[in-house]
Formats: sequence, C-alpha cells, structure tokens
Amino acid sequence: MEVNVKVLISEDEVKERIRAIGEQISADYAGKELHVVCILKGGVFFMCDLVKNITVPVTHDFMSVSSYGDGTVSTGRIKLIKDLDESIEGKDVLIVEDILDTGRTLHHLIQLLHTRNPKSIKLCTLLDKPDRRVIDVPVDYVGFQIPDLFVVGYGLDYAQHYRNLPYIGVVDVEE
Ligand code: IMP
Ligand code: MG
Repeated sequence: MEVNVKVLISEDEVKERIRAIGEQISADYAGKELHVVCILKGGVFFMCDLVKNITVPVTHDFMSVSSYGDGTVSTGRIKLIKDLDESIEGKDVLIVEDILDTGRTLHHLIQLLHTRNPKSIKLCTLLDKPDRRVIDVPVDYVGFQIPDLFVVGYGLDYAQHYRNLPYIGVVDVEE
C-alpha cells in the first residue's frame, strides 16, 4: 500500500488565515479574558499557532473526547477520555478544534460544557466540512471550509500519522 499526500492548503495560507482569525478573536474579546479549551489531540497544533496571534489575556485547558457509535448512528453521548483540569464557571470559553465533520462530537461537548455554567462558549475550528454535517453546530470562527475529502496535517491524522505536516493535505491511498 502506498500513501501519497497532496497539498490542499499550503503552509503559508494556513499561517495567514490563523493570523487573521487571531486578530478577529482579539477584537471580539477586547477588554475580556479568554479561556481556551483545546480538543486533543488534533486541536493542539492549531491552538498553539492561534494563541500566539491573540492579544487579550488567555488561559488554556485541554480535553480529550471520542464519539460513541460507528459514525452512522448517533448515540447521543460522548466518551470523556480526559476532562478539563479547571472549572469553566463564569469564564468566556473558546473551544478550539481541528475539524468540524458530522458535528456529533462538538454538539455533545458543547451541551456538556454548558451544564458547567461558563459565561459564554464560542467555537473555533480550523477546518469545516459543511457537506458532512448531521447535527447543526453553531460555529463562530472557521479557518477554511473544505469539500468532503479526508485530510491530514496541522493536527489531523490518518491512523495517527501526518499530524505534524505543516500544511493541509489530502490522502491518496493506492492499493
Ligand atoms: P464529528 O464532527 O463528530 O464527525 O467528528 C470530528 C472528528 O472526526 C475530528 O475531530 C477528527 O478527529 C475526525 N475527522 C473528521 N474528518 C477528518 C479528516 O478529514 N481527517 C482526519 N480526521 C477527521
Ligand atoms: Mg479530533
């Protein structure tokens, strides 16, 4: 089996877009403090570059979740692999995720976090595949909308590989 990765969004394009989103977030949260909740593992690569472009005070926490079900049936639950270390009560929370696909994971995660009484919750995703959406999720900041392709790089994996690619690529598997 041979795996080829073709560039979909270049490193320069990703960097420039993250810079612009950081600027937008800094303006939207002017005078406030932001609590970033990064979704492991994929979101961490995006988060690191994003927060360097945010000028308001920022704190960080990390969460790891996975969806129950086989991807075609929504069970209405998520499995918490790692919960947050700190309380989010009264905080302006920004969830940072790598990609919004069916929306199941983030839908359930946002519901869960709302029960913990944050002041606000907004969602920032590097990539969005709107054609794949099964559950509507309100998303506040999107890096790029992409077609229904399986992508890797910038935190996104194919069997845990390619997360470290500095660009967004499309996997092309030749058997
Ligand atoms: P969903 O929105 O609940 O379907 O799940 C989103 C998760 O699916 C993401 O956090 C990724 O881990 C994974 N995912 C979806 N599309 C891709 C892709 O194109 N490449 C790599 N991972 C993906
Ligand atoms: Mg993920």
